[in-house]
Amino acid sequence: MSCTILGIESSCDDTSAAVIRDEYLLSNIMASQKVHEAYGGVVPELASRAHQQNILPVVDQALKTAGVSLGDIDAIAFTRGPGLLGSLLVGTSFAKGLSLSTGKPLVEVNHLQGHILSHFVKEHDKEKKQPSFPFLTLLVSGGHTQIVRVDSHLEFHVLGQTIDDAVGEAFDKCAKVLGLGYPGGPVIDRLAGEGNPKRFRFAKPRIQGYDYSYSGVKTSLLYFLRDMVKEEPDFIAANMNDICASFQRTLIDILVDKLVKAVKDTGIREVAISGGVSANSELRQRIADESARRGWICHIPEFKFTTDNAAMIAITGYYKYLAGFRTGLDAAPVSRAANYGE
Ligand code: KG4
Ligand code: ZN
Repeated sequence: MSCTILGIESSCDDTSAAVIRDEYLLSNIMASQKVHEAYGGVVPELASRAHQQNILPVVDQALKTAGVSLGDIDAIAFTRGPGLLGSLLVGTSFAKGLSLSTGKPLVEVNHLQGHILSHFVKEHDKEKKQPSFPFLTLLVSGGHTQIVRVDSHLEFHVLGQTIDDAVGEAFDKCAKVLGLGYPGGPVIDRLAGEGNPKRFRFAKPRIQGYDYSYSGVKTSLLYFLRDMVKEEPDFIAANMNDICASFQRTLIDILVDKLVKAVKDTGIREVAISGGVSANSELRQRIADESARRGWICHIPEFKFTTDNAAMIAITGYYKYLAGFRTGLDAAPVSRAANYGE
């Protein structure tokens, strides 16, 4: 029997709704919020107000584009956390209201689980190889940096994670210091493509196991710029591309070194990357190169599935719904979802 899921995502600054039928994507509508650019970061209060404005037209458009009515939906999947509480509240309340008025069941989704399972979204007329279990995921976003072993659509084991900043945060903070605006990742990525990644060196952390740390490398950049600007006031503008290329190289080296170690230790040679930073061109190239060199099978997401989107929430909701998960109308959003079972 066919199964149709409406997914709703509102954890940060993108309002998105998607419809999935039997793993196939029928629609994936997104409204990004430009309002934060002027502030150099997401302003939570503005984000929830924008979600409130966007959510109804976005859900409506997702249903229309998919050619389905609310009556055709089997369940409503929504992001319960982690994320900004005010943002999550809009999606959660909307999903609950929709469930109450239509009688359709609710399925809560962990946003991180969604990022990881985005590789399982199928599209008509597109051949795509899906990961087979178990595989390792490098989950890299503005809020998280983790290596996760995925044993099934519903079983996740975090092998390591950042003990301070996320890698996306390091990109964004670096961009802020360089005066490049928000979000910084895409800008640094573009400028780095024109620069020399070996020109400058930044301190790499020494952390045991598969954990990450990105606060030291950020401080290393800050001190470096402070010292150089003292000697040469125009240093940043004159060397922007090389600074971006060298800093990005350091961030990516740190990510890949731990992933290589995790593959060696676990013997799992199938790897995937997901989350906003998986849009980074150097990371994508490095994963492809390491895979070719080391005989890994790698999964690199399409750009539209790297940043926050509801397709990943709908596909996760689909697997959970089939496995019998249901969420009550009393579910409240959680800003920090402790584990992937939530
Ligand atoms: O997954 P995401 O959309 O939101 C979170 O769940 O955090 O990730 C957003 C992060 C931001 O830090 C942004 O700078 C980063 O992803 N990002 C990139 C690139 N595109 C987005 N970082 C590096 N290179 C990119 N091309
Ligand atoms: Zn995300």
